[in-house]
Amino acid sequence: KKVVLAYSGGLDTSAIVPWLKENYDCEVVAFVADVGQGEDELEGVEAKAIASGASSCHIVDLKEQFAQEVIYPTLKTGALYEGQYLLGTALARPIIAAAQVAVARQVGADALAHGCTGKGNDQVRFESAFAALAPDLTVIAPWREWSMRSRPDLLAYLAERNIPCAASATKIYSRDANLWHISTEGGELEDPWNEPSAQVWTWTVAPEQAPEQPEYLQLSFTAGSLTAINEQPIAAVAAIEQLNKIAGAHGIGRLDMVENRLVGMKSRGCYETPAGTVLYAALQGLESLVLDRTTQDYRIRLGNEFAQLMYDGRWFTPLKDVMLAAAEQIAKPLTGDVVVKLYKGTVSVTQKRSPNSLYSNAFATFDEDTVYNQKHAEGFIRLYSLASRIRCLHQTAAAEA
Ligand code: ARG
Ligand code: SIN
Repeated sequence: KKVVLAYSGGLDTSAIVPWLKENYDCEVVAFVADVGQGEDELEGVEAKAIASGASSCHIVDLKEQFAQEVIYPTLKTGALYEGQYLLGTALARPIIAAAQVAVARQVGADALAHGCTGKGNDQVRFESAFAALAPDLTVIAPWREWSMRSRPDLLAYLAERNIPCAASATKIYSRDANLWHISTEGGELEDPWNEPSAQVWTWTVAPEQAPEQPEYLQLSFTAGSLTAINEQPIAAVAAIEQLNKIAGAHGIGRLDMVENRLVGMKSRGCYETPAGTVLYAALQGLESLVLDRTTQDYRIRLGNEFAQLMYDGRWFTPLKDVMLAAAEQIAKPLTGDVVVKLYKGTVSVTQKRSPNSLYSNAFATFDEDTVYNQKHAEGFIRLYSLASRIRCLHQTAAAEA
């Protein structure tokens, strides 16, 4: 028997390797997704996997696919979970799961395993993807089966088996990083009355410590896709990396929220999404110029629905294709330039222009105009308020009767 494990090099998945071998009498193939979590996590990961007992380790670079197929399309929907969260963790799950299934096919595995706890969203996201892509494969979720509950339990388990592990018994936070964001949960954050301490934040400086001077960036978009920063053409992944650095240095992209997990409980998380925060604001600026009122309203509703779909792990569904097609269509006129001002934790759009702009100074001006006849408003308002007029007349007649 052969199991492909989504392996990170952390303590949990390091313990899962020997646990699977002992409890399922199987060969364990480690699969590591490079979704931009950074060199710190990836360095030496193959050696670690082998030291834990994996028969081989497959590291797959998914950064480009992550940006092109998930991040930018989702950005065009305007998705923000519960009005705030840019979905960093949720976005990475579908491509990680799909690549894991591909490795399973390649090595002829009969099962898939992951290190998600039984309390969270991630187990649902992974397993919903597995169900959609490889319903024939068995899914093993050790955290729902074994009796170990804490880091010391896991360390003792590894020590008994003489498996080296650099992890310490106390690690305050649970973090999840990729190209788009880093999330931090646990530690003092478990009490919503505690302000996050300085060590929670890793990608962003405190807004109080950000530079005194604002920084301006010109972002150019074609059909809703970023094509240039300060007139320099830039590729999808590089743009996100660059914006993460620049915006992070201005303290932009921090979010501290209590959210509703799919499995019912609330959880508190701190998220840093510097590039995402800037790109979201820039696209909204462009939308405000080019989308008419009803399309704008529809896009807002689409963003809410898509955030829900993404959060809940429903990527591999026909509905996702429907929503992305709608977003793509809505984004077609989103071509133009936006200037953003980065200053002490905030991003504001200060300039915007588009060949598709519907903003017409000739119509909107407070000065004299020649295109708009103010008399036309009179008939519009009479019909617009007709129901109110009839209701009042009716009530008056009834009161007099
Ligand atoms: N609560 C966020 C989400 O569900 C972040 C989860 C972080 N995941 C993790 N394995 N540390 O998307
Ligand atoms: C986990 O439970 O594995 C992390 C948190 C989540 O999935 O929501």
